[in-house]
Amino acid sequence: TLDFPPGFVWGTATSSYQIEGSPSADGKGPSIWDTFTRRPGAIEDATSGDVACDHYRLWQSDVDLMAELGLGAYRFSVSWPRVLPNGDGAANAAGLDFYDRLVDRLLERGIEPWVTLYHWDLPDALQDRGGWPARATARAFATYAGIVADRLGDRVGRWITINEPWVVAKRGHFHGDKAPGHHSGEEAVLASHHLLLGHGLAVRAIREVAPAAQIGITLNLTPTVPASTDAADIEAARRFDGDANRWFLDPVFGRGYPDDVLRDYADAGWLDHGVSLESPSDHDVIAARHDFLGVNYYERTIIRDQGDGTPAKVVPANADLTDMGWEVYPRGLTDLLTDLSRRYQPESIVITENGCSFGDAPSDDGRVHDQQRISFLRGHLLAAHEAVRAGVPLDGYFAWSFLDNFEWERGWTQRFGLFGLNPETQVRTRRRSADLFSEICRENAVSSAIVRKYAPQIFDQMFPG
Ligand code: FCB
Repeated sequence: TLDFPPGFVWGTATSSYQIEGSPSADGKGPSIWDTFTRRPGAIEDATSGDVACDHYRLWQSDVDLMAELGLGAYRFSVSWPRVLPNGDGAANAAGLDFYDRLVDRLLERGIEPWVTLYHWDLPDALQDRGGWPARATARAFATYAGIVADRLGDRVGRWITINEPWVVAKRGHFHGDKAPGHHSGEEAVLASHHLLLGHGLAVRAIREVAPAAQIGITLNLTPTVPASTDAADIEAARRFDGDANRWFLDPVFGRGYPDDVLRDYADAGWLDHGVSLESPSDHDVIAARHDFLGVNYYERTIIRDQGDGTPAKVVPANADLTDMGWEVYPRGLTDLLTDLSRRYQPESIVITENGCSFGDAPSDDGRVHDQQRISFLRGHLLAAHEAVRAGVPLDGYFAWSFLDNFEWERGWTQRFGLFGLNPETQVRTRRRSADLFSEICRENAVSSAIVRKYAPQIFDQMFPG
């Protein structure tokens, strides 16, 4: 039996835009995702989060489903435009009430709420005033964080400021496949700086009203390896790792921005906005003391040089891929966690997301035997356990996701849930992976009995003799 440390946190994760629906109920203002999903061609299957999992109305029974699994924690995000329809100014009482009731019900069911304050649904009103490339958005975020913490901080002890600033900055402002759908390197760099600044300012704002709060930021991190030993591939991997990982880790851990990445951005002409990113006072704010580092891990990244110095992702020919086209590579999680520990010495790391998308194969007995998801979970939990054994201060694991939901620009084409969901009927179906996860959480361990029950075909490999 592979035991996890006592007190290890087990939970599932979701985000507001992906599950709530009810985009204009009870005074909610529009977010950039409400607007972006209306853009022709933006979403693969032309759907939107208008209904999503209808969680804004079905939240009570959803919490009951979670309680059935015996999970200790639930990570959800607060929709900023539900609380502040205009981005700033007066708070919308009905919006705050929704999260207040949700928190109470979770606590009644013995589930600890972990609140993410920004999971990508920026109020449209703030986008109109420049969005994340504008410094004022960082200040507005801190004000909003203070309002939510003031209301929930007596019952919520764990806070995540920003989810995946790289995705917000780069995918939203440079690649343009996520809201707000822009294509500017300069904007992307400014956005990343203001997201980090917003994180630091929010840490202060939360601590002012909830001094005992445990606060972290969630980064999407990917261990990056060059495709070959060629100098060009090694250099391309350095660039990719700098942009995706170190640009966020270094300043949060008090080291400021990495010089090599600043040079890359300058060479690309992305620093021509005349704003200094190196102000010592900004860096003090960004390096605000945090209590844990949130890590979202989905896959490793193998990089080769495209011939012109730009990095390109390579997928190994025999790789096992999820429906997202992401490589299943549990070992990358161990590598990532041990490497983070060695390089940054975080006090505490929590895996705030890890999971996979697989469609369901038909089954005869009416149950959903999602064997691929089961084997993904098993593999990644063993990888996490290996990191714990190597001394990594890993304190929790959140599976993405509690239920199938609206997967951003991929729309409803992806299935990440422990519970399946039919978006037409809103019927939730418990998958077998949920049973597995539930047993692991209850035992705080991956035991041989559990593996034998859920993945008999690999039992012998795992527990030889
Ligand atoms: C992460 C996001 C989350 C979900 C998963 C699949 O990047 O934080 O909302 O979309 O990917």
